[in-house]
Amino acid sequence: MISKNVLITGAVKRIGKEISEHLASKGFNIALHYNSSKKEALELQAKLINSYPLQKFKIFHCDLSNEFELEQFIDKVMNCFERLDVLVNNASVFDPGIIRETDVNLYNQQMDVNLKAPFILSRDFVLNNKKGLIINFLDTRISGYSSSHAAYCISKVGLAHLTKMMALECGPNIRVNGIAPGASLPPEGKGQDYLDNLAKKTPMKIPGGLKPILLSVDYVLSNGNLTGQILYCDGGEQLL
Ligand SMILES: NC(=O)c1ccc[n+]([C@@H]2O[C@H](COP(=O)([O-])OP(=O)(O)OC[C@H]3O[C@@H](n4cnc5c(N)ncnc54)[C@H](OP(=O)(O)O)[C@@H]3O)[C@@H](O)[C@H]2O)c1
Repeated sequence: MISKNVLITGAVKRIGKEISEHLASKGFNIALHYNSSKKEALELQAKLINSYPLQKFKIFHCDLSNEFELEQFIDKVMNCFERLDVLVNNASVFDPGIIRETDVNLYNQQMDVNLKAPFILSRDFVLNNKKGLIINFLDTRISGYSSSHAAYCISKVGLAHLTKMMALECGPNIRVNGIAPGASLPPEGKGQDYLDNLAKKTPMKIPGGLKPILLSVDYVLSNGNLTGQILYCDGGEQLL
């Protein structure tokens, strides 16, 4: 079997770490991207090498809000992996603020990390690889109009649009799909009750956790005809 190579952004904590461990268990070689979490990156790399000694796990630093680092990033990864089969645009910032509270810095940070970086990384992925799959991490909030995280939501709406636009431009050799979780892990400083309270309002009533996300990743990977689709993993929250 030919082994496959994946680049995962924000790969060493929370949802990104779960995806990394999941794809490692499926035989992928992984380019593990991090920004501030070097210690966690080294720990995860060591753990994966120990568990899967025949696979390749390399860590890469990049501040995705830094244009210079962003423009160089895929080249750095390609120097090490030669070919990438999958790009998972998972890294994100999630800062609250209604429109009236949003200053230019907050706005730019959400747009830079959540939209501009996936745009440029996806462009470079396509320019450097003949075939492949891009998975963009969105958010169930793209279906609503709450402005509690206005700039964040607009950045994810843009990324959802990019998902479909790119699927149209880049088929048949490159597939592009989105995964839109609902509240799956509590933000830093909040606990399980935060998730439980949010989930009570959804059709499924209890939080789905990480499993629906990993099942969706598997589905997108295995369904070779799927492109331009957004899979909601939110217990029906997008219907509210
Ligand atoms: N958690 C949820 O319940 C939930 C719900 C809906 C949607 N989502 C989406 O699912 C994805 C993963 O969620 P999450 O909660 O696990 O994400 P997260 O913890 O908020 O962020 C993931 C990673 O993004 C990286 N990152 C932030 N700023 C960066 C920058 N300037 N440059 C490079 N990397 C940067 C961080 O890496 P370092 O730690 O290395 O700095 C961080 O570990 C996100 O796209 C999110 O929007 C999550």
